[in-house]
Amino acid sequence: MLENFLIKINSCSINMNIDEILKNVTIEEKLSLIVGWGGLPRKVVGGAGETRPIDRLNIPSIVMADGPAGVRISPFRIGSSDTYYATAFPNEIALASTWNLKLVEEVGKAIGEEARDYGIDVMLSPGLNIHRIPLGGRNFEYFSEDPLLSGKMAAAYVKGVQSVGVGATLKHFVANDQETNRLTVNVVVSERALREIYLRAFEIAIEESKPWAIMASYNKLNGKYATQNEWLLTKVLREEWGFDGLIMTDWGAGDNPVEQVKAGIDLIMPGNDEIVKKLIEAYKSGLLDEKTINERARKVLELVSKSLAYKGYKPSNKPDLEAHSKIAYEAAVEGFVLLKNDNALPISKDAKVALFGLGSYITVKGGLGSGIAHSRYTVSIADGLKERGVKIDEEIEKIHTNHPYYEIFRNYMTLLKRIYEESSKTNIEPYRFLPPIIERSATLAYAYFGVGTEVKIEDSLIEKAAKEDDIAIITISRVSGEGWDRTATKGDYYLTDGEIELIKKVSNAFHKQGKKVVAILNIPSPIDIVSWRDFVDAILVIWLPGQEAGRAVADVLLGVKSPSGKLPITWPKDLYETPAMRSYPGISKENPQYLVYEEDIYVGYRYYDTFSVEPAYEFGFGLSYTKFEYSNLNITKEGDKIKVNLKVKNVGNFEGKEVVQVYVRAPRGKLNKPFQELKGFYKTKLLKPNEEEVVSIEIPIKYLASFNGFSWVVEGGEYEIRVGSSSRDIRLIGKVTIEEVCFDKRWNKISC
Ligand code: BGC
Repeated sequence: MLENFLIKINSCSINMNIDEILKNVTIEEKLSLIVGWGGLPRKVVGGAGETRPIDRLNIPSIVMADGPAGVRISPFRIGSSDTYYATAFPNEIALASTWNLKLVEEVGKAIGEEARDYGIDVMLSPGLNIHRIPLGGRNFEYFSEDPLLSGKMAAAYVKGVQSVGVGATLKHFVANDQETNRLTVNVVVSERALREIYLRAFEIAIEESKPWAIMASYNKLNGKYATQNEWLLTKVLREEWGFDGLIMTDWGAGDNPVEQVKAGIDLIMPGNDEIVKKLIEAYKSGLLDEKTINERARKVLELVSKSLAYKGYKPSNKPDLEAHSKIAYEAAVEGFVLLKNDNALPISKDAKVALFGLGSYITVKGGLGSGIAHSRYTVSIADGLKERGVKIDEEIEKIHTNHPYYEIFRNYMTLLKRIYEESSKTNIEPYRFLPPIIERSATLAYAYFGVGTEVKIEDSLIEKAAKEDDIAIITISRVSGEGWDRTATKGDYYLTDGEIELIKKVSNAFHKQGKKVVAILNIPSPIDIVSWRDFVDAILVIWLPGQEAGRAVADVLLGVKSPSGKLPITWPKDLYETPAMRSYPGISKENPQYLVYEEDIYVGYRYYDTFSVEPAYEFGFGLSYTKFEYSNLNITKEGDKIKVNLKVKNVGNFEGKEVVQVYVRAPRGKLNKPFQELKGFYKTKLLKPNEEEVVSIEIPIKYLASFNGFSWVVEGGEYEIRVGSSSRDIRLIGKVTIEEVCFDKRWNKISC
């Protein structure tokens, strides 16, 4: 339908004549274009921001909403009984765990459709920062520790959103990899690490998906606020990469709007009248020239001209939530990572389950802060199992549902409605003005004081359950959110004493009866695992899987679906083995203003593999109910690409999908290189037992380049192509000889 509409408007051409407009607007009007409206969006309640219209020229304002897990708008409007729910999709760490670009594109498209149907012109997603530390408060909003996986995932997401005429925004550009002092911390990082890791993810996403916008981050980068950093915004982003979309600030970032405009910011968000005045003064005093103002205003007009608002699209306010819930379900299933399975899973449909942990009954769908999506429902693990006809130990269930947090959870929507009513009276975003404790508890009902809460269960009851029930499932939940990092404390990174005790007691009792124990991790990023993993027989990581959580969990536990997710991060044995923990959170620890990325390019598996440190679970790891055999590796060089061909065969008894990963090991040369780096991947179709698929993965030779301080260099020599099921489960190895080749920062070939 929309496709037809777009064709129609294109053919009757309502192209904006930007040159003409720029000639006809006053300098004040131009400056007002490059500063957001300020208050909460007027057109869509609960959106994140809005630009300023110029009514006399029929230039409408456009509306932006967060992202990334779905469209964040208010589900309620004062004085109306209509609802505006959005689908809560799995968070980005879960999407990345699917390694399925097609599926992530579908998620992006569904989010784009909901945005379109609710009158949102530009989504403020996807997030593209790097998982540098497991404690990163917004890791759940980012994809991976690896720039290739992150960049490709982001590109898929953006393509999906933009396919329906809604813009996407890559954020937060760049090095906003922790939340502690995010507004002011000065991140000091070498140009090599920046270009190979932190910028690279953005560069790949821009090259492959042409996002309409990019959001500069709060932090400083090598001494200057990212939003006031001309090197970053103009030299790298505009000149070297040729980015031609719009560059906006994060909300309230930086400390000098004039510097921002000069450095390359096109749109200051959320903006206010004061800022417009400051810019006018700067123009009058000669600090800002008209040419720069014209360039910035042009970018805003270009964005407006692409928007559905400008094209006169009338939002239906009726997105297809039913269809999108199915996509959310598929993505949740594929994002689950099975870390351990000693013949515990799948379970029989007739099994009676003892379900422990509040998270089994109050399953956390997503993270907090601006990344929330308000869905109609979240299916808990208990409800998902029941829906599939699985019997649950009612006595154990009752102990959990009698907990006061459970009641809050059930009344979550009422509480949320109250918060939105309050917020609308004050014109301030709910999550910005309410005491965090209310917001957090309301958002996830028990998130703030509830997650990690234990329910006391008598030993005798555990013994009884072990006799009567067939299997035990224990859910451990955590949540995190914008504005603060997770902590290295019990109840957050570490399990509480009570949680450990529960795991031990349940395991003892069930094992004595010859029965299995499964742990489900409902978490935003890794937690300590080594101290308790030996007590349980299976561990399934479900991350923050969105509104379909329980249904997806039930189907994977029952073997209706085989797990096929792989870790997009390294899971450390000890938190402090994470290389970046040495410098985290910067100097000083109490109030860090200065943070040096000492580990340089050795982020994630690049560190663990190069320095032979054993992780708990390696990057790319994840089990399946079936087994895959790799064969027939054939590597050829064709023009500027390496072609890797192989066969993958399902040799087990379940149908399933496999993630084929290609790591490249460079020959010894002048530059230090990580032991190996991910350079390509592919998720197979659903393979039946005995079915095989011919897999073909292309690696551009430029992907092998390292940055030597001046240019990109692919050193000559024999490269090892390592094809595997994880970064440490390499099944096939081949070799290819590459001649030395160098590129400038725009990827033009130059002599070395
Ligand atoms: C966040 C952004 C978000 C913006 C608008 C900021 O606090 O860092 O990710 O898009 O708010 O809600």
